[in-house]
Amino acid sequence: MNSETSGATTIAKHFVECDRSGPLFGPNRIKLGVFGLNLTSAAGITAAQDRHEIDWKQNVRLVQLADRAGFEAAVPVARWRGFEGASNPWGESFETYTWAAGLASVTSRIGIFCTSHVLTVSPVMAAKAMATIDHISGGRAVLNVVAGWFQKELDMFGVGSLDSAQRYAYMAEWMDVLLRLWTQDETFDFDGEHITVKDGYQQPKAIQRPRPPVMNAAMSPVGHAFAARWADVAFVSINSVNVDEVKTKVAEMRKIAADHGRDIQIWAASLVLCEEVEGAAQEEVLRYTEREGDPEASANRIAWGLAGKAPPKARTDTMKAKGNVDGGLALIGTPREIADSICLLSDAGIDGLCLSWFNFEKGLPLFIDKVLPLLEDAGVRQKIEMSKVA
Ligand SMILES: Cc1cc2nc3c(=O)[nH]c(=O)nc-3n(C[C@H](O)[C@H](O)[C@H](O)COP(=O)(O)O)c2cc1C
Repeated sequence: MNSETSGATTIAKHFVECDRSGPLFGPNRIKLGVFGLNLTSAAGITAAQDRHEIDWKQNVRLVQLADRAGFEAAVPVARWRGFEGASNPWGESFETYTWAAGLASVTSRIGIFCTSHVLTVSPVMAAKAMATIDHISGGRAVLNVVAGWFQKELDMFGVGSLDSAQRYAYMAEWMDVLLRLWTQDETFDFDGEHITVKDGYQQPKAIQRPRPPVMNAAMSPVGHAFAARWADVAFVSINSVNVDEVKTKVAEMRKIAADHGRDIQIWAASLVLCEEVEGAAQEEVLRYTEREGDPEASANRIAWGLAGKAPPKARTDTMKAKGNVDGGLALIGTPREIADSICLLSDAGIDGLCLSWFNFEKGLPLFIDKVLPLLEDAGVRQKIEMSKVA
């Protein structure tokens, strides 16, 4: 086998686009994912008795339900501890590589994602674990790489001191090593500023060739630039269904990707709260976040950013208003209102939505029964006969 030496400066030379035959590249104009099933209180901070609690059999059952309904993605949240207070939201979570491996063997078509804090795992380990998950799933593995922002959890790994620029510089080297391990048969040396690899080697390669897809979840301009350069899907946070704002954001991100000669998908995260009776969903949000909220955990979640820095005001306002995962969108209303909002987001250029519920057991089946048919009627998703799905 040949060997070659290089550092971060030669990144572009080795880059190859991902396999585009998997679930993320199917015909639906708006792709759908379940997001955060692997942790308690998935969609947001609440002390309500009926909040999402985790249980392996229930995770399997709900991902299988999403699989049968034609969802494209099952995406876990990477989290290592909770936000304390009375209810310690996100305090229990399943580790994401092993979660993905377990689900890969009991699903048929859905994309199985692993969300990985890049700073907490060697790219050599990540490349092999993902290739293994790709074999278990028959070519449905997707890696979601995140920088992380929660000081207390990154401190457990001794990597909480890097600032945003340092984290993304580290991530660029990590991606370079990962992609080489995934795509090169010859061994290589890598001598970067942050990462060193001697005689790098990984076999077997993944089933998806030349490599599985990569998603990156980020909010900052430096994060979006990273996604445009390295990811196949940028997982972003948008604050509302404001079509002009979303169009502008999507156009900016597509432009950065195009500057690298790339064409990426743009997905967003959203909390869903759907009730058939008009006004009932809004009441439920108030119940979860205010009447049965956990103010101490909410305050911790805002205060405990990286380097003790609170997130920007726009993000904390959204978090306060919606109590949701990482300050994303909230789709609240009747099935018709939610379907209309999703169609608007699709028209504005969003390619996919990863959805969370305060209560997945109630919310996911209702979404499949009542909202999905409206999306099919609107032509943004193809009709699927659930009984025919294995
Ligand atoms: C849609 C979305 C999902 C995210 N999921 C996670 C996650 O699972 N775990 C995590 O620690 N951070 C998650 N993040 C946060 C990012 O990893 C990142 O730390 C945060 O956006 C701050 O970095 P930035 O300055 O690049 O935006 C997510 C962000 C977004 C927008």
